[in-house]
Order: sequence, then structure tokens, then C-alpha cells
Amino acid sequence: MKKVVILTGAGISAESGIKTFRDSDGLWENYRVEDVATHEAYLRNPQLVLDFYNARRREVFKAKPNEAHRQLVRLEEKYDVRIITQNIDNLHEQAGSTNVLHLHGELTKARSDRNENLIIDIGEQDIHLGDKAPDGAQLRPHIVWFGEAVPNIEPAAKLCEEADFFVVIGTSMNVYPAAGLIHYVPQTSPCWLVDPKAVPISRTIKIIQEKAGTGVKRVVDELLSL
Ligand code: APR
Repeated sequence: MKKVVILTGAGISAESGIKTFRDSDGLWENYRVEDVATHEAYLRNPQLVLDFYNARRREVFKAKPNEAHRQLVRLEEKYDVRIITQNIDNLHEQAGSTNVLHLHGELTKARSDRNENLIIDIGEQDIHLGDKAPDGAQLRPHIVWFGEAVPNIEPAAKLCEEADFFVVIGTSMNVYPAAGLIHYVPQTSPCWLVDPKAVPISRTIKIIQEKAGTGVKRVVDELLSL
């Protein structure tokens, strides 16, 4: 089976009602990254950071996968499909995609703030100050904050090296190392980009300048017809 590797960002979940980060009225218009999404912020004001992610988790649990998430599941009829997502929601999994690698963590998980490998499932529960991991340390969101290492970047880069086809959906390609993954994709492998905005990408790529809800179907139809 040929391998389709898909890199998704906040844009694929926009039509499910989840705010993106950098669009007008995006999350970073209303919050400062350095107040809620860094380890320093968590040390300074853990309550504010926990509240921010508790709010994100509630938002996700109200949301449902949209047409774009569902279209990607269809691809599994014919391809070995690997989704690399920057998103911390679980909408790809809810739609039924079977291979999803989260680069920036997952809202449905928490971890010890002393041991990054001690991760537990919390589902839709809030995290409160005083909630303890099995090692007795405070639980924190299982989220990769700005300035922290991205543990899944190596397996993601390996997947990109093996991609027969590569599709980028709904990301402004502002955040590294995720935005650099495309450079691991073989030059001979066809690539597509679905985004309503013009996203700068320095390689040959077929651009579908549409929202994910309609644009992803076009790519999926094309891939299934090959
Ligand atoms: N369909 C497809 N794309 C859309 C849609 C839509 N309906 N609506 C918006 N977009 C596009 C925007 O045009 C933009 O290019 O989604 C992209 C969203 O970009 P960002 O808000 O920067 O989100 P993302 O690229 O996922 O951010 C990367 O930044 O703050 C961090 O950790 C956070 O994982 C996130 C990372």
C-alpha cells in the first residue's frame, strides 16, 4: 500500500467551531502566548494556564468532526494513511482515522509536571491545582508548550521521508519544527495544500485555496482516482 502522509493544523478543525490561533479573532488575539502557553507561564501562574486548557478541553468536547476529518478516513480504503497533527483536539480520532500522531500533545491527557513520560488519560475532566499524578507530582496538561522539545518530531520526520503523497491542511506553517517537516518529503512525491489563505511553502505543491470542508474532498477524490 502506498503511504499518504497528512500534516494538519488548526484550520481543519475551524469548521467544527474550534478557534484557530492566528486568524482574526484567533486564540492568540485574545491571549498572550507567554501568559498561557510556556513553562514559565505555568510556573508563574499555574491556575491561569490550567484554566486556559480546561476551557480548550470543554470547547473540544462540544465539537464534532467535520467533513474534512471524515474525508480523510475514506483514504484508508486505498492507502496507508498517517496523520501528523499539530492539533490538541481528538477530532481525527473521533472521525475514525486510525493512525494519528500528535505533535503538540493532547487535551484528553495529563502528565506529571516532574516526569514527562508519566502520562494519564483524563478524558474530558478539568485539571485542578492539587490533582496529582501517580508519582505525587502536580498534573499538568499533556501539551507541548512554546520553548519545549517536541518528542514526536523524529517519528514524524521519518513518516515524511516515507511519504508517497503528502497533504498539508489548515496550517499557517508558522511554528517550527512542524513547519519544517515538508522538507523531509521526497522531491518526487506529489504534495497538496488546502487552506483558504496563501500559505508560503518553498516547494512544488498543488494549491487548493479553499476551506477544508470542501478542499479536502477534492484531494481525497483525486488520490482515490489514481
Ligand atoms: N479550512 C482550512 N484552513 C483554514 C480554515 C478552514 N475552514 N480556516 C482557517 N484556516 C487556516 C488559516 O488560513 C491558517 O493558515 O488555518 C490556518 C491556521 O493557522 P494557525 O492559527 O497559525 O494554526 P496552526 O498552523 O495549526 O498553528 C500551529 O501554533 O500556537 C501554536 O501549538 C499551536 O499547534 C499550534 C501551532
